[in-house]
Amino acid sequence: MVTRDQVLGAVGHIYDPEFKKTVTELGFVRDIMVKEGHVALTLVLSADDELLKSQYRQDVVEALKGIGIGDVHIRFRNISEHERTEALKNGQGAPAKAAAQQTAPPSELRSPNVSSLLSPESGVKFIAVASGKGGVGKSTVTVNVAAALARKGKRVGIIDADIYGFSVPDMMGIETRPEMVENKIIPVERFGVKVISMGFFVEDNAPIIWRGPMLGKMLRNFFAEVEWGELDYMLLDLPPGTGDVALDVHQMIPQSKEIIVTTPHATAAFVAARAGAMAVHTKHDILGIVENMSYYENKSGELDYVFGRGGGAKLAEELHTELLAQIPLRAPDNHFAEPDFSPSVYSAEHPTGKLYLDVADKIITKLE
Ligand SMILES: Nc1ncnc2c1ncn2[C@@H]1O[C@H](COP(=O)(O)OP(=O)(O)OP(=O)(O)O)[C@@H](O)[C@H]1O
Ligand SMILES: [Mg+2]
Repeated sequence: MVTRDQVLGAVGHIYDPEFKKTVTELGFVRDIMVKEGHVALTLVLSADDELLKSQYRQDVVEALKGIGIGDVHIRFRNISEHERTEALKNGQGAPAKAAAQQTAPPSELRSPNVSSLLSPESGVKFIAVASGKGGVGKSTVTVNVAAALARKGKRVGIIDADIYGFSVPDMMGIETRPEMVENKIIPVERFGVKVISMGFFVEDNAPIIWRGPMLGKMLRNFFAEVEWGELDYMLLDLPPGTGDVALDVHQMIPQSKEIIVTTPHATAAFVAARAGAMAVHTKHDILGIVENMSYYENKSGELDYVFGRGGGAKLAEELHTELLAQIPLRAPDNHFAEPDFSPSVYSAEHPTGKLYLDVADKIITKLE
């Protein structure tokens, strides 16, 4: 089977006209997905130029034909401000950071080990997404905040720490499995986000029946055995409530910040307060509250507060933090559309996608 590295190798000669470097040197080839003779990838564009797109399309199709790939899906994404700054810096002689991450041979890729990824010097900002009740939208919030941070040009990872109830791969529309390189697991990249989940290591959706100590070990493996490369943000999708895994995360990553998700319903907010109390107890800073399923906007534009009102604001007040967003009930409309098929990630242009971009801005302002 063709590997991700072979794909990168094949397109390695394609040149960005603005930065005068190859797209791989610039780290502009993202989200590579290889599946049964089919490749999907994202190209970052230095200019929103139809001519450039069609040239790229032609070059990539030709290059991949050379390694036996006949079926190619190319998405284009405009360069973010952050990526432009980085690319300009790299143009002045420094080796491209992002490119090194994408194309360096595995031995140079050696990531920091568990303790150094977790050490405050690593610069990685951890954000755990928690809730009191299940089903309020933690995983939805995790994948969308991660995608929004990546759209802002940040290097982002997700650890699906819901070991029993993993859902991140499915929600992001990931259909591949991680590759192993030199005994390290390479996370799967989707929407510019690197993802690791128990779901990648379970056959046919089999139930997980391990006990406490194994779960803690699994979480540790997600740090030790995975080649994360350099990251700005690592999001952790926690299981609901205040159980063992949540406690493990709190203890393993004392520097982690937290986002608490609730619905506007008074009971949900009341239960979410317990997750908040746990954060306070383990001395995690709470970045803010995301109120999800806040309302439904009907066809005539009226707002229907299906699950009540005010839960998020009340919780924010109780935990002395901010209400980061109120997200309406609404499905992503890119649900069934290839190449961005994803049951839960809203596009950047979707009204909900825009709300998540605002959340990303607030997070960046708070943490940088
Ligand atoms: N704003 C929204 N509009 C419409 N559907 C939503 C919204 N938020 C979440 N959902 C849907 O609600 C369900 C539960 O969401 P999600 O899985 O994100 O919650 P969770 O808190 O992670 O659940 P669990 O506790 O089981 O891990 C999913 O089917 C999701 O697609
Ligand atoms: Mg979940």
